[in-house]
Amino acid sequence: MIKKSILGLRDMKAEEIQEILDTAQLMQPIMNSRNKKITYLQGKNVVTLFYESSTRTRVSFELAAKYLGATTTNISVATSSVSKGETLIDTVRTIQAMGVDIVIMRHPMTGAAKLLSENIEAKVVNAGDGINEHPTQALLDLYTIKKYKGKIKDLNIVIAGDILHSRVARSNIWGMTKLGARVVVAGPSTIIPKGIEKMGVEVSCNMKQVIREADVIMALRIQKERQNSPLFPSLREYQHYFGIDEEKLAIAKPDVLLMHPGPVNRGVELTSDIVEGENSVIEEQVTNGVAVRMALLYLMTREGIVNE
Ligand code: CP
Repeated sequence: MIKKSILGLRDMKAEEIQEILDTAQLMQPIMNSRNKKITYLQGKNVVTLFYESSTRTRVSFELAAKYLGATTTNISVATSSVSKGETLIDTVRTIQAMGVDIVIMRHPMTGAAKLLSENIEAKVVNAGDGINEHPTQALLDLYTIKKYKGKIKDLNIVIAGDILHSRVARSNIWGMTKLGARVVVAGPSTIIPKGIEKMGVEVSCNMKQVIREADVIMALRIQKERQNSPLFPSLREYQHYFGIDEEKLAIAKPDVLLMHPGPVNRGVELTSDIVEGENSVIEEQVTNGVAVRMALLYLMTREGIVNE
């Protein structure tokens, strides 16, 4: 079946995820080469349309598309006709009329990427829709874990932090469980969504207990901008119970992988020495994001994977 857009990992098969990870490995030498340019996407136009701020996702998609030879355009929502009241679909139809092949969009509304994919001819990549999914972040996380641990299956993975507001957590949970990992989500009960066990994860409010067994700890940002009122007493208290510092790291396995999708609130989710420490692969996650997004763009234009 030829599908259309990348909206999330919920509807993606394990084999499709695996195909993207395998292809990303082939993209890495291109990134590391002096020329950094091939022609797989020559003649294709890729547009990035971000209604929320981004550094990593937007820039890495732009670089990925450029390395593959595509033409890229970034639409700044603040200075486009969106600020005059143009709707999302009208904006994208206008862009499409200029001949766009792939639209990469971040939007604060859950389901925005799906809505868009149903209304335009161009293929859509969800770069984050509200609290729903951020599929390419999860793919780069899976790629990074596999690179270090050699597998995903049977690993103990702890995802700690603001699960309630995290599209990164949701996409990672879908992806990690499909590939056979055991996933535990940890955090104050007020920022763990009720019924999340149905996604195939365990829940814990005891960070020190769960990190003993962990092969991977993924800390997530506390998203204060999505909290209408405080959901726990203070950041200081959060740091004490759930933030990773030298003391908590000392009870984890020596080779535990420490990850964070960024941006990091230093001193809250992770102390600065942990961010820079030898278990941290946070910078490499960013680097791997380019290879994974190259793989995705390549496979999309080859009409291989992708879900409707
Ligand atoms: N991880 C992530 O989505 O980062 P940006 O918000 O910088 O894109």
